[in-house]
Amino acid sequence: MHRDYELHPTPPSTDDYLRLRAESGLSPRTPEQAAAALPGAWASCHVTHANGETVGMGRVLGDGGWYFHIVDMAVLPEHQGRGIGGAVMTALLQRIREAAPPGAFVTLLADPPGRPLYLKHGFTETAPDSIGMALTL
Ligand SMILES: CC(C)(COP(=O)(O)OP(=O)(O)OC[C@H]1O[C@@H](n2cnc3c(N)ncnc32)[C@H](O)[C@@H]1OP(=O)(O)O)[C@@H](O)C(=O)NCCC(=O)NCCS
Repeated sequence: MHRDYELHPTPPSTDDYLRLRAESGLSPRTPEQAAAALPGAWASCHVTHANGETVGMGRVLGDGGWYFHIVDMAVLPEHQGRGIGGAVMTALLQRIREAAPPGAFVTLLADPPGRPLYLKHGFTETAPDSIGMALTL
């Protein structure tokens, strides 16, 4: 990651979270959802540019034992392709390696833009043995 960027091992602000999701093309969320989501993560990080703007983020939901789920991987379009997503993923996986007993099972739902990044970090497809399923309430 270029030295104009700094990685912080903390969640983005609620406003930055909502902006990063919307501007990177992820489904928009409400302030109420963000307010509950951000303190509820097992680990989070965000990336700022030297100008102070928050430009990237990623979070882990987890039980601390062996189940960990990576969510909210997002980098603003004009800052993509510069290693920010890779730095976020490296930091999140490092947190899991340091804190969890051996054998941690790390999952994510891979949208097309993230797939090359996830493959590079060692993720493999679970289908056809296990397919992702979702329910929105
Ligand atoms: C997925 C995302 C977070 C990656 O962030 P990023 O900062 O662009 O990622 P990086 O620059 O670290 O690139 C990681 C890898 O992605 C691939 N990649 C990145 N930009 C690319 C481009 N323009 N063309 C092709 N591959 C590219 C490369 O494999 C790269 O690996 P490299 O280090 O060998 O070049 C970002 O593209 C994004 O926010 N996308 C929109 C939101 C989204 O779909 N998130 C994923 C939800 S599952």
